[in-house]
Amino acid sequence: MNDNKKAIISILRKSEGTPVSGQEIGEKLGITRAMVWKYIKALRKEGYDVRSSPKTGYILDSCPDKIDPEMLQSILKTTLIGSDVHYYSELESTNNTAREIAPQVSEGTVIIAETQKSGRGRLGKEWQSVSGGLWLSLILKPSIPLENLSRVTLVAGIAVTNALRSMGVDAHIKWPNDVLVKGKKICGILTEVSAEIGKVDYVILGIGINVNVKLSELTDDVRRNSTSVSNEMGKPLDRTSFLASLLYELEQQYIRFKTRQFAEIVDEWINLSDTIGRNVRVKTPAMLIEGKAIGITEKGALVVLDQNDKKHEIIAGNCRYSD
Ligand code: BTN
Repeated sequence: MNDNKKAIISILRKSEGTPVSGQEIGEKLGITRAMVWKYIKALRKEGYDVRSSPKTGYILDSCPDKIDPEMLQSILKTTLIGSDVHYYSELESTNNTAREIAPQVSEGTVIIAETQKSGRGRLGKEWQSVSGGLWLSLILKPSIPLENLSRVTLVAGIAVTNALRSMGVDAHIKWPNDVLVKGKKICGILTEVSAEIGKVDYVILGIGINVNVKLSELTDDVRRNSTSVSNEMGKPLDRTSFLASLLYELEQQYIRFKTRQFAEIVDEWINLSDTIGRNVRVKTPAMLIEGKAIGITEKGALVVLDQNDKKHEIIAGNCRYSD
């Protein structure tokens, strides 16, 4: 896209709905008001919904529903997360691509695709990745022992939940890493790791959020338990702005993870979660545990108290609510 058009979009985005006059835009860019008008007309043809009033100026009502990597860079408020963004219109799986490049790239690199042909979920399940979602993988290189890996997943769950709540969506975390709205899944997180001698080399945080996904495009079994941001808000969301706020939240949480006591993160996770206090059935590779979820350990394990008052610390498994 032409630099002047990009600059106009950036000015209008930053004004967040306050009208900006053609005069003001023209002065900022060193072009005439007539040129500004010409660019506005061209942007409208490209799907940008720019309202204009001769008295007040221009307002950007909506953008085409595509992630705009250049725009992202201009609005991103982070220094580490998203310092390098690799954008694709389609991939097999962003986690696969992240895995391939992780050893060579710096921490904070993000891989993002408009659609995935073979999106992967937890426990070997397929992740339906139609257009309108945010399908991304974040490469992190924390100096932590492998046994603390689950902590990173909890941190990501907090970041996604905060980003959704900042949009007015009443999101809650279901252990270990589903984000739900009114009991329906809006986001899933797939954490993968490369480690040597018990020490983490890099972590791939694969995050899938149904932002503007049309629920009718999901298969019946998935649709039954899913929702999307647009479905909850009753209107589509600008995914580029949402991505910027998600990456900002991820950076805030990651900085806290590296600098503060983990207990602080556990407290926030418990506040945002709807798992603690619920009766659960957790299936692990070894057994099925039924009881009440009563806490999270320092390692990120779920603590379940069974009927015989025996405590189980579960580091990984499939959790269902039974109440
Ligand atoms: C889950 O089963 O809840 C986890 C879903 C994770 C989906 C995301 S989408 C981006 C990244 N790439 C993948 O193939 N999977 C993750």
